Amino acid sequence: MNNLPIVDTFGRVHSSLRVSVTDRCNIRCFYCMPELVKFLPQRDVLSFEEIVRVVRVLASLGVDRIRITGGEPLVRAELWTLISMIRSIEGVLEVALTTNGLLLAEQAEKLKLAGLDRLNISLDTVNPVVFQRITRRQGLEKVLAGIAAAKEVGFENIRLNAVSISGISETEIVPLAKFARQQNLELRFIEFMPLDGDEAWQSQQVLSGTSVRKLIENEVGSLVSAERFVPSQPAVDYHYSDGIGSVGFVNSVTEPFCHACDRMRITAEGKFRNCLFSSVEWDVREALRSGATNGEIENLIRECVTAKKRGHGTNDGEFLRPAKAMYQIGG
Ligand code: 5AD
Ligand code: SF4
Repeated sequence: MNNLPIVDTFGRVHSSLRVSVTDRCNIRCFYCMPELVKFLPQRDVLSFEEIVRVVRVLASLGVDRIRITGGEPLVRAELWTLISMIRSIEGVLEVALTTNGLLLAEQAEKLKLAGLDRLNISLDTVNPVVFQRITRRQGLEKVLAGIAAAKEVGFENIRLNAVSISGISETEIVPLAKFARQQNLELRFIEFMPLDGDEAWQSQQVLSGTSVRKLIENEVGSLVSAERFVPSQPAVDYHYSDGIGSVGFVNSVTEPFCHACDRMRITAEGKFRNCLFSSVEWDVREALRSGATNGEIENLIRECVTAKKRGHGTNDGEFLRPAKAMYQIGG
């Protein structure tokens, strides 16, 4: 191990890792997974010990921010145990979690005690009918209870992530923004991205961050651009001009932020990826299970990051949609 940071051929230093802990989910958002889905068998999914080993290697190379994703991470048994294992690795400064919130009411306290630093809750609407249309399941009440529980156990800076989809989100944005403002939650809109979900993605289904912002400015309150503290941060943030609340936009399709990307990903089955949209993966599970040394795991990771492309090219003519959907990669 040479302890040098992980840098790609464009000079981007890689200091954050998204770890998918399961491909399973308790709902079925149409943009993420098909209704009838075949999940990975348990033996193909990395164990907590295997995940911790990979994170240790990465932390020794300067990776200090870890985000736990899925599928839905809270369906993984005793996830809080993994959170506390990762939180105690030397060099790890922040552990965050992206969840749909359905199981949060029961788990919020354990997650807080395990040392979880940040929570992002995915919520596209506060209307139960539209919630069901998007997720093909009921559960808005549970998500709202989860948000309340998270606040109660002391999570701060809780953020709502909303995917904006043309033809669905237009009516949902204003009530969602009002709810977030009233509940003191940060809100981020993410453009609908072309991954291999059930319904075929078409560029006209992307509702741009700019049009969402205009809707909010017209109907919720005027916005002022916020300072950019972290250059690798994909969102463009705004504050309401009356000082109450903030809204951010992750315009991954209309304004790609690849130039500042510092992220790597590992899927639930232990495949290492340099980009959400990448079509190549490096098999870390195979390495782990065939007795690889830490140095060999490091080499695999460096090879993966060295192969990283300049950008995702979703707007290029030759763009090939990844053969995997979000639930298989980790959001
Ligand atoms: N485009 C944009 N966001 C997506 N998510 C899932 N699929 C897509 C997609 N195709 C989001 C979820 C959640 C996060 C894990 O990823 O809504 O916020
Ligand atoms: Fe589940 Fe999240 Fe995918 Fe929705 S987006 S189906 S909550 S994993």
